[in-house]
Amino acid sequence: MHVLIIASEVIPFSKTGGLADVTGALPRALANRGARVTVVTPRYESIDPVAHSLARRLRTLTVPIGADTVEVGVYEGSLPGSHARVYLLDHPPSYGRPHPYGEEGGDYPDNPRRFALLCRGALEVTRDMGGWPDIVHAFDWQGALAPLMIRRGWFPGTPRTGCVFTVHNLAFQGLYPAHFVDELGLGRDLFHPEGLEFYGDLNLLKAGVLFADRTTTVSPKYAREIQTPEYGCGLDGLLRSRGSRLSGILNGVDYDVWDPRRDPILPKTYGPDDLAGKAICKEALQKAFGLPLRPTVPLIGAVSRLTEQKGFDLVAEIAEDLARLDVQLAILGAGAKDLEARLTDVARRFPNKLAGRIAFDDRLAHLVEAGSDMFLIPSRFEPCGLTQMYSLRYGSIPIARAVGGLDDTIVDYDPRSRTGNGFKFEEYSGPALLATIRRALNAYNGADAWRETMLRGMRLDYSWDIAGRRYLETYEEILKELGPA
Ligand code: ADP
Ligand code: GLC
Repeated sequence: MHVLIIASEVIPFSKTGGLADVTGALPRALANRGARVTVVTPRYESIDPVAHSLARRLRTLTVPIGADTVEVGVYEGSLPGSHARVYLLDHPPSYGRPHPYGEEGGDYPDNPRRFALLCRGALEVTRDMGGWPDIVHAFDWQGALAPLMIRRGWFPGTPRTGCVFTVHNLAFQGLYPAHFVDELGLGRDLFHPEGLEFYGDLNLLKAGVLFADRTTTVSPKYAREIQTPEYGCGLDGLLRSRGSRLSGILNGVDYDVWDPRRDPILPKTYGPDDLAGKAICKEALQKAFGLPLRPTVPLIGAVSRLTEQKGFDLVAEIAEDLARLDVQLAILGAGAKDLEARLTDVARRFPNKLAGRIAFDDRLAHLVEAGSDMFLIPSRFEPCGLTQMYSLRYGSIPIARAVGGLDDTIVDYDPRSRTGNGFKFEEYSGPALLATIRRALNAYNGADAWRETMLRGMRLDYSWDIAGRRYLETYEEILKELGPA
């Protein structure tokens, strides 16, 4: 089976969030199970072809976009540690910019063209250079036009193809002015509320949901949540209408990258059989964040995009209460300027307790996972969340809101039966978060039980193998429905 993966970010080439971790690891899991995998992604300005051993194809690709055609260069390489082929589309006017999607949290106004180019280019490059796929697996609104292009017959004469569309975050739908419908040649007949229209705008994500054979999202609970008005971002009706063609497949963890037993970024590795290195990581983390070097104080870490989704307004809200407790906080985050400013202000007011680092820093992210005792994820909503699964493996016990993938992966700690692997709260409020942090701090003082809980979490297995199998089953189901090629 040949699977084409179309994604706007892929580790190790580009990353703004968990999507890149997923698209970097899933191809390997599929390839390990015998699939042939091709990945197509843009070559952004920051991607150095030499550093990634990418070869430039001599031939360019001619990609039609609406009434125009665009000449695109192609870099070719492989995903580290796998046989998955990668093609990076090189078109400097589209992708030669400082950010994949837009600066300062905004959107580049020509994003519909840039990502229509990714979808069309991905299908063209596979047809020309790699062989037509059995399955096209597209991710988020940036990949959503690919199923439309296939189902609307933009590639006549090609064999039958199954389409899977995965939603990593329903809050980002790719909403743009309606004139792009014509500019991208999508067809006016599709521009109505049951089609691609969303209150007068073009909604790119809807193209994926409407035209793919299956829509998946990244945890079972989020798959249910997005069918409700509260979490459906205006699309709950459409999503409910998909019935069994919508499902949730929990993401995996790439333990080649996220495992304290062999993480090269840590000052000292450790694992469930030898925890000594964790104390050294804790000291290194306290140093890195300018916190007092106290081995026994409970240290709560966090690594997050700072957006409304992630719930750090609650942390700012309870900062004074936190500062009264014997606890340290180390928050690594970047994103919305107002949240960055609020957290910086909190850190300035309570320098020995609450430390913040406004940055996107992968190395420091590993140190926060390893050096903290607890890991904070107070999200308003969370499609899957990867950091709670990382922190479980690193022995940093998650404190999280019971939503989406957080609820699917964290079992609330019960001090009586000594079961569970983390601390969860339901209500989105400062007091609920504070009460849960207090609960975690109480448990921390019971040293034996804490250690037991840590070890239980460290031994859990969320590897990609399971998710890889689920996706392959989904692909096979679709191909069976579509019938022989
Ligand atoms: P999301 O994709 O919504 O941001 P996930 O939990 O799925 O949430 O994935 C976040 C990924 O991005 C993790 O790999 C995390 O370590 C990383 N990350 C988030 N913020 C930062 C940051 N400020 N610095 C470094 N890595 C970050
Ligand atoms: C999105 C979601 C996050 C999820 C990630 C990878 O960015 O916000 O919850 O883990 O995608 O699927």
